Amino acid sequence: MKIAIDGTAASGKGTLARRLANSLGYDYLDTGLLYRVVALQALKLGMTSFGDNIKEPTQNETIKRSTIIKLTTIALSLSLPILDSPELRSQKISSLAAAVASLPEIRQALIKKQRNFAHSPPSNSGAVLDGRDIGSVILPKADFKFFIDAKPEIRAKRRFAQLKDTKSNQTQETILKELNERDKTDSTRQFAPLKRLSDAIFIDSSSLNADEVLQIALNYING
Ligand code: CDP
Repeated sequence: MKIAIDGTAASGKGTLARRLANSLGYDYLDTGLLYRVVALQALKLGMTSFGDNIKEPTQNETIKRSTIIKLTTIALSLSLPILDSPELRSQKISSLAAAVASLPEIRQALIKKQRNFAHSPPSNSGAVLDGRDIGSVILPKADFKFFIDAKPEIRAKRRFAQLKDTKSNQTQETILKELNERDKTDSTRQFAPLKRLSDAIFIDSSSLNADEVLQIALNYING
């Protein structure tokens, strides 16, 4: 059993995916972490303005190629599971992750790992994957596809509450701006853009709590 969950930034797709996996006894893969880890490594290599530079047509083509090759090597060498950490959740890494995720070489390097996880999950039962291209590219034949969204202000409020625990000094306003920018980058990129598929079950979580979203998803799955 394979369940694909896609959606906008901070829409609650990760919360749903984790809870669904728990309640069904399946394994969960947060695919956003893969892009976040590559972004963190890019930052450690000093590629702070990577996101801007890569879109800059005048950038030296040789530098651009070597940057992409380094990041592709990093992506290929990642092994699962990836440990989550506050460092990976920072605003800087979120934006850099979206820049890295727009590169077809990086996406290609990560496809196999995600499919392998879904086809042979550690528990041998089922897998729930969440991201932006799970239903469209990674698991087009998933048993169930969900698309989660919520009003931007509500998503910003939720992310603000999440990040507050990690002593982040962001305001709700800066978070809202970052989420909107990232959604735009994710849905307008050329390769594997975020989109609501016609065969995905749509859930607007704006006025629902985590339990209610889980229940709606379970109702679909259990028929
Ligand atoms: O948790 P949140 O919704 O803020 O983001 P995430 O799922 O951790 O993903 C971070 C970024 O990685 C996204 O904004 C996308 O640019 C990228 N991503 C992607 O392109 N494809 C995926 N399957 C997962 C994430």
